[in-house]
Amino acid sequence: MNFIILIVRMKKELKLYYSKLSNWDQLPDNDQLLVKKAIEIMHNAYAPYSKFNVGSALLLSNGVIVEGSNQENIAYPSGLCAERVALFYAGANYPKEKIKTLCIVAKGNLLPISKVLSPCGACRQVMVETERRQNEPYRVILVSQNNVTIIFDSASDLLPLAFG
Ligand code: THU
Repeated sequence: MNFIILIVRMKKELKLYYSKLSNWDQLPDNDQLLVKKAIEIMHNAYAPYSKFNVGSALLLSNGVIVEGSNQENIAYPSGLCAERVALFYAGANYPKEKIKTLCIVAKGNLLPISKVLSPCGACRQVMVETERRQNEPYRVILVSQNNVTIIFDSASDLLPLAFG
């Protein structure tokens, strides 16, 4: 007797929501300040190996702005991305404060000027867990070198199906 085994695979769809502006000068003032701070701190990147500078600034619920830039090391995996520098500094120094908005900017040959930095997977995982810990979504603003701006209303939007 022959059996036909039919495996039905249901295709599922994931949607990604974000907004786009042609210039960050269309953002509200407090967001613009974050972008300026991220651009400023980007110049403190220590990136002699990749020559790719990343800056990040985040706003906390107490109004404090925490900044970070990528910090590399000759033993490559020992370095850290800009957004994780900022997120971990915030976690270490302001554990009770919620993150309201996180901004990331980048500059270097790895990125065409019209493209926003697409945060690495490890940073997305940290962003998602930070959001889950505080039980409240925070916005993520990504700005390209020619000012194109992408806004996510929740860090989790950047990593559907995150671990955990
Ligand atoms: N980098 C970040 O700072 N954030 C990211 O999301 C991606 C990559 C840094 C790490 C390294 O110093 C350089 O960019 C090149 O990968």
